[in-house]
Amino acid sequence: MERPNWAPGDIDLERPSVARVYDYWLGGAHNFAADRAVAQRALDTMPDLRRVIVSHRAFLRRAVRFLLEQGVRQFLDLGSGIPTVGNVHEIAQDGDPDSKVVYVDIDPVAVAHSRSLLLGNDRVSVLQADVRDGAYVMKSPEVTDLFDLERPVGVLMIALLHFVPDSDDPLGILATYLDALPSGSYLAISHAGYEEGEDGEGWTATRNMYDRNVTPMTYRNREQFTRLFAGLELVDPGVVRLPLWRPESLEDVDDTGAPFPVFGAVGRKA
Ligand SMILES: C[S@@+](CC[C@H](N)C(=O)[O-])C[C@H]1O[C@@H](n2cnc3c(N)ncnc32)[C@H](O)[C@@H]1O
Repeated sequence: MERPNWAPGDIDLERPSVARVYDYWLGGAHNFAADRAVAQRALDTMPDLRRVIVSHRAFLRRAVRFLLEQGVRQFLDLGSGIPTVGNVHEIAQDGDPDSKVVYVDIDPVAVAHSRSLLLGNDRVSVLQADVRDGAYVMKSPEVTDLFDLERPVGVLMIALLHFVPDSDDPLGILATYLDALPSGSYLAISHAGYEEGEDGEGWTATRNMYDRNVTPMTYRNREQFTRLFAGLELVDPGVVRLPLWRPESLEDVDDTGAPFPVFGAVGRKA
């Protein structure tokens, strides 16, 4: 298979990656046959999947705009993915051109493509790192050279933490970031999850296939999701199904009647 110039030499093109499968679902062009095969199989078993993906991006947009309204001008996008449309720096710098963004992802394609897209934008930096190593991320020059850590930061974890199992101590990871940030900082999370008994056949099949072929996921129910915000003040409307977090239009509200399999919330450090 021919390797395009945006694909770093050390990646295995035959092995689906979270970032590239997601890119396919978002309509992006930075994915390979192996990614598309898994992504398409998931869509075939779970046609609703696309609305879920779209809702993560819509939440990201609403959360960044909300944080801008609260005066936040520094955004740390953890597990930022392969840039498509509606990226954090576009939303944030549309609100205030001086907004600063650090993108962090473990995926080489996501990082390479972000770097090439952002060349020349001196208010954005890109770091390849494992977000579970918060100390490394917070001490990196990408963060310390760009951010004023005396001022609030909006930490974004969009469709990320369901890839971090309990054995990796997600609460400890979150604490590492939040302890390094001043009061008035925010944490925004969207996360796959549903209450007991809600996961229909399609979801279970999709999830098992994804676990086997891409990477294992940890779904968290409302209570487990809420615990991620320990020590923070939840802003209105608290923990909700993702489309119901401050919808800006009817389009944002999912009205199929089926339980929406993603929770979302934003918390503030007092
Ligand atoms: C489902 S995608 C979401 C991308 C983006 N946040 C969005 O909403 O469009 C999850 C991203 O998290 C990244 N990721 C997963 N585990 C990670 C880790 N431990 N460290 C850094 N990035 C990670 C993947 O590479 C992927 O790009």
